[in-house]
Amino acid sequence: QRPIVRLLSCPGTVAKDLRRDEQPSGSVETGFEDKIPKRRFSEMQNERREQAQRTVLIHCPEKISENKFLKYLSQFGPINNHFFYESFGLYAVVEFCQKESIGSLQNGTHTPSTAMETAIPFRSRFFNLKLKNQTSERSRVRSSNQLPRSNKQLFELLCYAESEFQLTEENTKLRYLTCSLIEDMAAAYFPDCIVRPFGSSVNTFGKLGCDLDMFLDLDETRNLSAHKISGNFLMEFQVKNVPSERIATQKILSVLGECLDHFGPGCVGVQKILNARCPLVRFSHQASGFQCDLTTNNRIALTSSELLYIYGALDSRVRALVFSVRCWARAHSLTSSIPGAWITNFSLTMMVIFFLQRRSPPILPTLDSLKTLADAEDKCVIEGNNCTFVRDLSRIKPSQNTETLELLLKEFFEYFGNFAFDKNSINIRQGREQNKPDSSPLYIQNPFETSLNISKNVSQSQLQKFVDLARESAWILQQEDTDRPSISSNRPWGLVSLLLPSAPNRKSFTKKKSNKFAIETVKNLLESLKGNRTENFTKTSGK
Ligand code: GTP
Ligand code: MG
Repeated sequence: QRPIVRLLSCPGTVAKDLRRDEQPSGSVETGFEDKIPKRRFSEMQNERREQAQRTVLIHCPEKISENKFLKYLSQFGPINNHFFYESFGLYAVVEFCQKESIGSLQNGTHTPSTAMETAIPFRSRFFNLKLKNQTSERSRVRSSNQLPRSNKQLFELLCYAESEFQLTEENTKLRYLTCSLIEDMAAAYFPDCIVRPFGSSVNTFGKLGCDLDMFLDLDETRNLSAHKISGNFLMEFQVKNVPSERIATQKILSVLGECLDHFGPGCVGVQKILNARCPLVRFSHQASGFQCDLTTNNRIALTSSELLYIYGALDSRVRALVFSVRCWARAHSLTSSIPGAWITNFSLTMMVIFFLQRRSPPILPTLDSLKTLADAEDKCVIEGNNCTFVRDLSRIKPSQNTETLELLLKEFFEYFGNFAFDKNSINIRQGREQNKPDSSPLYIQNPFETSLNISKNVSQSQLQKFVDLARESAWILQQEDTDRPSISSNRPWGLVSLLLPSAPNRKSFTKKKSNKFAIETVKNLLESLKGNRTENFTKTSGK
């Protein structure tokens, strides 16, 4: 009998249907192989979006029988898939086979009233289930949260952490469902809009606990009205006009912010951050526990997510290296959840991609070569920027490079420890450094808006800190190679040693003490990564 409650973070919760289209690939084993997606980004997004539209979120009583619950819900239509999770209460995500079932469920639902308060009668797909009679329900089974045992080898701990912190199937479903619920709200104003997740929720680099970036896509509305109708006339909507796209964005988001604040079930802490470079509405979706950033007129970010998705899917070492570098940067406070002059995870990911393009033979292709592989269907121009690249993963040749992750990590530090940041910019479009067009300390060319720097916010001192730490880390890894030339299977992986205090202190530790310390350090770090809400969207800083 399957336990009724399966925590989102429980490794056993990866649902079977996820595995269907994800096959192992890559010649170097990193433990990431089984999660490499092989589908086109748009196929994956459309399928998940359609699933989410047939899905409801239900807050359940503490004690509930799974069988009775399913029997009750089946009255409204056949159920395709369901799971439970806990987040300040017990919740169920239920996916019906047909969209129509949602209507019958809504028709069988009433709006509660209390003596003290008045409900705003908004009929969403987020429900509250109550027991008619409180007795005789058997208590639910809890699955435990699996914390690592302290006597585990560090290597195992990291491997465990890498897989453990990946987004699970359930967590991904919940992300699409949350977007779909917000879409229902936005649809009150813009009936054909789509709310799409982007950023690390979909780019394959996401971790449990990462924020949920949402993009309100109004173009569908425009496209629908654009198709050709014969005759001598052209029909237009009467509209209001404002002086700029930015003002339009601000007005739309302002109204939606109000709407989420006043009517959005489970939406709390709504902040309208409309004067940022990229205006947004930030809020917490309480039931899912996600910190959400809703933007619009931000299509390029969706395309960037698609590009990262492709890079992440091409070789299993990409995500492993990105994970390691992000972990390292977090451990040394190079990144932060507070907006500021720090390097963002997005910039770090770009640096890893660039580095992997520079290997010989390259592990990743340049963006220009992905553009060469594109066919007519892939052609895409957004606001005058050419965003064309191949979308079909099977058309990209796998890399011949067989370097190990450990070597790559060391080389990454070495490469950026010696990079001429004062002269050169990082450019994943061409896969080679170029002269910096301005004096920003760190210049990473925005791959699609090529006149912009995605790390414009980074200060000279933050860059220096990055360089110093990269050099020190390269040195530590070099030392380890010299100290222990033979790589034994239980040897702590290089990254672990980088999370320890700097080398001299470490040498004075007894082995046992050092191991214990390292386990604690890694555990704390991973916990903080997991809970880390968002590395600022750089909405306030440079593009
Ligand atoms: P997390 O730290 O896990 O949230 O990673 P993320 O990739 O989701 O980053 P974040 O939430 O900060 O930003 C979401 C997406 O917005 C990114 O994936 C990028 O596509 C885009 N983005 C973020 N920062 C910038 C930037 O400075 N410039 C541009 N052009 N896009 C950005
Ligand atoms: Mg994000």
